[in-house]
Amino acid sequence: MNTQAICETNLQGRKPTRQGKVRDLYDLGDRLVLVATDRISAFDWVNPVGIRDKGKILTQISLYWFEQIKDIVKNHLISADLADFPTEFQQQREMFEGRSMLVHKCEMFPVEFVIRGYLAGSGWKEYKQAGTVCGHSLPAGLVESSKLDQPIYTPATKATDGHDINISPDEAGKIIGEDLNTKASNAALQVYSRARDIAAAKGIIVCDTKFEFGVLNGELVLADEILTPDSSRFWPAGQYAPGGPQPSFDKQFVRDYLETTGWDKNSPQPPLPEDVVERTRQKYMDAYTLITGKKDL
Ligand SMILES: Nc1ncnc2c1ncn2[C@@H]1O[C@H](COP(=O)(O)OP(=O)(O)OP(=O)(O)O)[C@@H](O)[C@H]1O
Ligand SMILES: [Mg+2]
Repeated sequence: MNTQAICETNLQGRKPTRQGKVRDLYDLGDRLVLVATDRISAFDWVNPVGIRDKGKILTQISLYWFEQIKDIVKNHLISADLADFPTEFQQQREMFEGRSMLVHKCEMFPVEFVIRGYLAGSGWKEYKQAGTVCGHSLPAGLVESSKLDQPIYTPATKATDGHDINISPDEAGKIIGEDLNTKASNAALQVYSRARDIAAAKGIIVCDTKFEFGVLNGELVLADEILTPDSSRFWPAGQYAPGGPQPSFDKQFVRDYLETTGWDKNSPQPPLPEDVVERTRQKYMDAYTLITGKKDL
């Protein structure tokens, strides 16, 4: 618990090939090492302070789910065991162990495969205004956080400024091709449904979740992280009460804190104070324990 957050990684002093908001990527040619750091983003900005162990938690949760759904669709995971990584990584065990995945490098689709089983966030906003979500017309009378009769595929693309824009499944088909769009969205719906049922038995509602797919040698591959608190809305089932927003296992303390600071959402964030860091870490640990059944990382 008194270990430091790992917000930046390096390989023998060399910077990662690419840095996402949360992950550092090391390009090995046909493979990648994806390292989940302890960085946390909110409102599209990364905080200067990290959440200790968050990267390990996200990677371990993803690994749990990859194992549960491996029969549904091919995924990018090769190994999370450092012994299978190039030796340079093994020489920096403290930095990489538990938070890194060796994966097949894929050609990624510029579409995010969002699956919603409940009405929240931008889905709820659109429904309130138009009665639809990404081209799906839904029955009248739903309220915020209502369960949908069937999970729906509500794709999104990234604008050049990095913001997500919701699109219809037809539009997604035009971007990536009908055939792959159908295959990937069907796989996403199946993975979501499997995860929803597994999570339900553990007292968690998977409200919605985002998948990323790519292709490798012409074959569809499920990539990135899956079914983590960063890519999903998880709700404690015991407190579920439609008609308003639900408490969740994610960044609520961070968002709430930032809202109290007067931060303009358009410049570097003020650093999170220690109590917000610790409470957020606990939320991530709670999700990890509930999902995987493990107490320790
Ligand atoms: N198997 C894979 N092959 C190629 N790229 C992958 C693979 N798996 C994940 N990625 C990419 O790795 C990156 C993960 O980094 P991270 O999640 O931090 O990025 P992000 O914050 O979601 O997005 P951005 O890159 O816009 O910051 C994403 O761009 C994702 O698309
Ligand atoms: Mg990401």
